[in-house]
Amino acid sequence: MRGYFITFEGIEGAGKSTQSVMLHNYLLQNNKKAVLTREPGGTTTGKKIRDILLSHTDEIFPPTAELFLYEADRSLHINNLIKPKLQEGFYVICDRFTDSTLAYQGYARGLDIKTVKEMNSIATEGLKPDITFLIDIPVEEGLKRISREREKDRIEKEDLNFHRKIREGFLKIAEEEKERVIILNGTEKPEVIFKKIVEILKNRNII
Ligand code: TMP
Repeated sequence: MRGYFITFEGIEGAGKSTQSVMLHNYLLQNNKKAVLTREPGGTTTGKKIRDILLSHTDEIFPPTAELFLYEADRSLHINNLIKPKLQEGFYVICDRFTDSTLAYQGYARGLDIKTVKEMNSIATEGLKPDITFLIDIPVEEGLKRISREREKDRIEKEDLNFHRKIREGFLKIAEEEKERVIILNGTEKPEVIFKKIVEILKNRNII
């Protein structure tokens, strides 16, 4: 028995967390076994790593250190939660996964793409999402949304150009993996986006 692994990706403020919660609730209401998790920070140790990654610091924080920490978080997550839950037949919904590392540490920070892909594959032990929803919105819109919510973390604080590279990176990944990655227009109303998600999952016999 093996459950389904569904991931959500997007730039800051795209609305992927909202959609993850909506899908989790929908599955539970339909009597499915489902777990909602996120990266970084899906495990007890992972929460500590998340804290390190997102806190402000005066020290130099090289992209390589970022990459290793995100991958360490992922390795813990895969072994403690994702794999065991999939084996138990759960739907595992994950808010961010390997595409975020490729977009942020690869396309935006500038680390070698092939190396990032290799690191992703080591951390995931080869496990890939069955389907990924990329919620796409213009960078200005996403940043406007998060600035209303709270103080920005270490990564959100980066400039507009950095966030543009992330969005372009995600779109490139989607272009390369059309079957797995579905692009959704994040400027539409959450209910409209969610309806499309359910439709796609039904069409693919995932739900
Ligand atoms: P979140 O606040 O959307 O949960 O994501 C935390 C931050 O970490 C967000 O700025 C995106 C960033 N991130 C990476 O840079 N690389 C990664 O591999 C992941 C999972 C997140």
